[in-house]
Amino acid sequence: MLSNHASNEGKRTSLHGTWSSRMAFILAVTGSAVGLGNIWKFPYIVGENGGGAFVLVYLICVVAIGMPVMMSEILIGRRGRRNPIATMSLLGKEEGSSRHWQWVGAMGVLAGILILSYYSVIGGWTLAYVIKSIGGVFTGLDAAAVAADHSAFKSNWLMVAACHTIFMGMTTFVVARGVERGLEQAVRFLVPALVLLMLVLLAFAINSGYFAEGVRFMFTPSWDKLSWGGVLIALGQALFTLSIGMGAIMAYGAYLPEETSITGASAVVVIADTVIAILAGLIIFPLVFANGLDPASGPGLVFETLPLAFGHMAGGSFFSTVFFILLAFAAWTSAIGLMEPAVAWLVEQFHRTRSQAALSVGGAIWVLGLGSALSFNVLEDVQFMAGTIYDNVNYLSSNILLPVGALLITVFAGWVMCRNSTAEELGGAGVTYKAWRILARFITPIGILIVLINTLRPAIGRLLGS
Ligand code: TRP
Repeated sequence: MLSNHASNEGKRTSLHGTWSSRMAFILAVTGSAVGLGNIWKFPYIVGENGGGAFVLVYLICVVAIGMPVMMSEILIGRRGRRNPIATMSLLGKEEGSSRHWQWVGAMGVLAGILILSYYSVIGGWTLAYVIKSIGGVFTGLDAAAVAADHSAFKSNWLMVAACHTIFMGMTTFVVARGVERGLEQAVRFLVPALVLLMLVLLAFAINSGYFAEGVRFMFTPSWDKLSWGGVLIALGQALFTLSIGMGAIMAYGAYLPEETSITGASAVVVIADTVIAILAGLIIFPLVFANGLDPASGPGLVFETLPLAFGHMAGGSFFSTVFFILLAFAAWTSAIGLMEPAVAWLVEQFHRTRSQAALSVGGAIWVLGLGSALSFNVLEDVQFMAGTIYDNVNYLSSNILLPVGALLITVFAGWVMCRNSTAEELGGAGVTYKAWRILARFITPIGILIVLINTLRPAIGRLLGS
């Protein structure tokens, strides 16, 4: 058991060993960060929230909140060297506070389960789009025909549920076998290949004649279009896309060698992830405007614009197939990261084998995910609070659980942990350390609090009947 494995040489070690190199760690974190969040979610929420102002707030959140939270998670993970729940409990006691900090870890496990329940549904869509691409379904279709095809696909509940089942099965399978070298290798190939293909699509978007319009939409802030609700969505997305606020990166940090620079590794991941998201927007919005589509059309946006582009490109079916395979892979590596905390916890806490744990967690997430799968068809009219079941799970996890988790994690690293502990992990008292500490103690928590309070005030008011 991990919890019995306190080292008596001053430094703890992880039972699972450490990453083979700094590069391996960066690839693993990048693999978890780069997923549907960058290519599917980012463009559609930019579209729904009016463009430029939203993008600017998102970028501010990535730098002022995402970066310090990521550094905090990695340093906590490396110091504790256990699963997130055990690490928070251990460090809580060690730093003279309380083992109740473990509830932050528990909330993260829950967030991972909820996120994966709908993430898997969209992961299933990418699989279906691989098959559609191979079949050349999109060749020569116009915007209306692609949209009609997508809407027919979504309303076929059996199809959407079956794709969700396959995606969840693939995820459970890998997690059950243990995340071995295979994944590291996949990411090593996947991220560069994905970027390369996105550059091909970018060239297409530039040639669409509407590139300037896309750029204007993404980078001209029109503040009247942005509400506090939109700011919370930008914050939630900054956390979601970087895989932070739920302890997943803490778990990866547990396997990080002592000598690796946490600041350097975080910066590489944050930059790579942001560049890929911006690239996705620069591809999608010119195509939206060139074809008279609605940028605010929601989760289907990417599945309507990209096939349209591919359908009018020489060798489109081939590129389309490769693209959706890469996207499915990106989603798959992220899904594994989302499931891992719950599985690791079951294994350590209840002495389950890895396969048993993966099957129970996978089964539970599959059932939950059916609610999201059916939100696009049979249960479309079941609407409450944020919208459909899918909308609610999405909203609760990204916009409530992740910000609250991120807030507590940085407060822990900035206020509960003593200066010596964090300085030791972040490599001394230089400028970067000082900057991190100011961000983690003040800017990040206050920023998150302001956004949460301003958005939740009306909702809380309604609940209290005032
Ligand atoms: N970052 C992933 C994406 O953009 C989604 C995600 C959120 C995630 N939290 C995570 C992935 C934790 C792995 C682990 O698609």
